[in-house]
Amino acid sequence: MQGFNDLLLSKKTCVKEIIFSGDKTAIDHIFHLESPNIHNQITEFGEKIFFTGWIIGKKQSVKFIRFCTSEKIIEETKVERSRPDVTLNYPDFPNTEMSGFLESLKMDELSNNGEIILEAIFDDGTIVKLAIIKYEKYLSKGGLLSIANNIGNNWIENPYYEKAEKSLHGFWDESTCFKKLFNQLDLTHVLELACGHGRHGENLRGKAQKLTMMDINTSNIEFCTERFKNEKNFEVIKNNGINFQPISDNSVRSIFCYDAMVHFDHRCVLSYLQDTKRILVPGGLALYHHSNYPNNNFKHYGQNPHARNYMTKELFAEYATGSGLIIKEQIVINWGDEKDLDCITLVGT
Ligand SMILES: C[S@@+](CC[C@H](N)C(=O)[O-])C[C@H]1O[C@@H](n2cnc3c(N)ncnc32)[C@H](O)[C@@H]1O
Repeated sequence: MQGFNDLLLSKKTCVKEIIFSGDKTAIDHIFHLESPNIHNQITEFGEKIFFTGWIIGKKQSVKFIRFCTSEKIIEETKVERSRPDVTLNYPDFPNTEMSGFLESLKMDELSNNGEIILEAIFDDGTIVKLAIIKYEKYLSKGGLLSIANNIGNNWIENPYYEKAEKSLHGFWDESTCFKKLFNQLDLTHVLELACGHGRHGENLRGKAQKLTMMDINTSNIEFCTERFKNEKNFEVIKNNGINFQPISDNSVRSIFCYDAMVHFDHRCVLSYLQDTKRILVPGGLALYHHSNYPNNNFKHYGQNPHARNYMTKELFAEYATGSGLIIKEQIVINWGDEKDLDCITLVGT
């Protein structure tokens, strides 16, 4: 079966889930959706998503199928297409001859991740919810950059940095799983992704032969440049939020990222994993602290526990192996009071 990762990598938009409402309370009906299907690729016909199917009302007929989001009506289409097959299969039902519908919606008019709600409007005006179609759009590089920037903007001049400076033991105490995995990294040239104010870099003074610190936010770059101005072997670089440019291919021995990727959009995580493969030397390792929050609920990530974005241990492994990396170890961990909320994964080339 084609995985979700393949769909992302092959640059296709896909339908992730279709939930049929089973709402037969208002008026009895039979509804059949032929397209789209789960994991449907949508891009073939000019970035449109096609809806086809049929609907019959047992007591009165259905006039329209309505397509909407939770905020607005997108389109209403007449149920008026000839469906002799339905008449053949449901001879005892009325109004079967013209029970078909066909509609196409342009993907660029829909939001990046979202859902389309299908409703039936009956002759007497009664509205019955039929299905919710959850889709995820393939993102162009520009789309991915703007998602990364939106999240990055939440971390400019944030009170987090001062507070976090005092709570390092969870990462650096010898007994932690973070430290045990970190001990496997070769510190000849190590890169820290999303360094913030550099509290982890502090632990690498005198230990890393070369440390490259990266972050999406200029204010963090300025802070770390000042903080480590006397460390000749430390460099601080602002990146674009989706990859390690301008780092050269095969040039870094290890990468780590703590308490940051947990907030990233999963497609940015995929993009970083693809670039991890590019910059690591053969035999290099990357240690990533990421989310294991499985609910892709289309809410703003800030509303999830500890602002975790959607990601799972399994999806991360799928993205990593799909990017040509080898999974060395994965450890699911609690965060605060939330059981199994996070995961740390060590990958290698
Ligand atoms: C919660 S802070 C953690 C900072 C640091 N890792 C620490 O543990 O102190 C999240 C960091 O991720 C950075 N960030 C957010 N999105 C990013 C992205 N897409 N790429 C690189 N850095 C990002 C923010 O600027 C911020 O420094």
